[in-house]
Amino acid sequence: ENHIQKNLPLFGKKVLVSAGPTYEKIDPVRFIGNFSSGKMGIEIAKNAAKNGADVTLVCGPSKEKSDGYNIQRIDVVSAEEMKSEMESHFENSDIVIMSAAVADYKVINPATEKIKKSESELIIHLTKNPDILKGLGEKKTHQILVGFALETNNEMEFAKGKLEKKNLDFIVLNSLQDEEAGFQKDTNKITIISRNGEPVIYKAKNKTEVAQDILNFIVENYKI
Ligand code: CTP
Ligand code: CA
Repeated sequence: ENHIQKNLPLFGKKVLVSAGPTYEKIDPVRFIGNFSSGKMGIEIAKNAAKNGADVTLVCGPSKEKSDGYNIQRIDVVSAEEMKSEMESHFENSDIVIMSAAVADYKVINPATEKIKKSESELIIHLTKNPDILKGLGEKKTHQILVGFALETNNEMEFAKGKLEKKNLDFIVLNSLQDEEAGFQKDTNKITIISRNGEPVIYKAKNKTEVAQDILNFIVENYKI
C-alpha cells in the first residue's frame, strides 16, 4: 500500500481547507448565517486525501459528511473560531484553500438571554468580522494560498482585486450567472485566475470534478 501511496500527486503534502458557512450568534437560540452547504470545500478535502495529502478540514456548520476519508476535521461555528483554527494550522501547511463562506459581519454584543419580541422593531448592530484569508496572505511564506470569489457583477475585475489584496496564488471564481453553479447545488462553474497566465475557464461540472480540477491546477502549475 505504501508504494501506491507514494506515487500519488499530493503524497505527504499538508493541505489545509476551510469549508461551509459561519454562524454568528444573535442570542443563545439564533444566529446570522448563509446558504453555503460546505460541499465544495469538503469535496476538495476528500479529493486531496484521495491524492495522498495529509488533510486538515476546518468546517463551519454543514450537514455534509467526510467520514471514511483520511481527514482531520475540526468543526467550528463562528468566523472568529474559524480564524483561530486556520491560523494555528497555517504555518505547517503546504497548500491552503479557503473555500468557506465566511460571514462578513458579526453581532456586536450577542444577547446572553433569549431576546423577547416586543412591539417595536428589533435592531441588531453588526461589526465587521476579520478577513481570515487576508490575514493568512500577510503571514504567507512557502504556502500556496487559494481563495474563492463569488460575484454577481464585474466578476473578473472583482476577483482579480481579491487575488491581489489577499496576496493569493490564485483565486477560484464561482460563476453565479450560470444556472448550474452556486450554493446548495451539486455542480459548479469556475474560472481560475492566477497571478501570471491567462484565466482558465472550466465548464460546469459536479463539485467532485471541480475539486479535482482545482487540485490538478496546483499539481500542474506550482512546485510542491
Ligand atoms: N474570506 C475570509 N474572511 C472573511 C471574508 C472572506 O477569509 N471575513 C475569504 C473567503 O473564504 C474567500 C475570499 O475571502 O476565499 C473571498 O470571499 P468573498 O466573500 O468573495 O470576498 P470578500 O473579501 O468578503 O468581499 P465581498 O463579500 O464584499 O465581495
Ligand atoms: Ca464576503
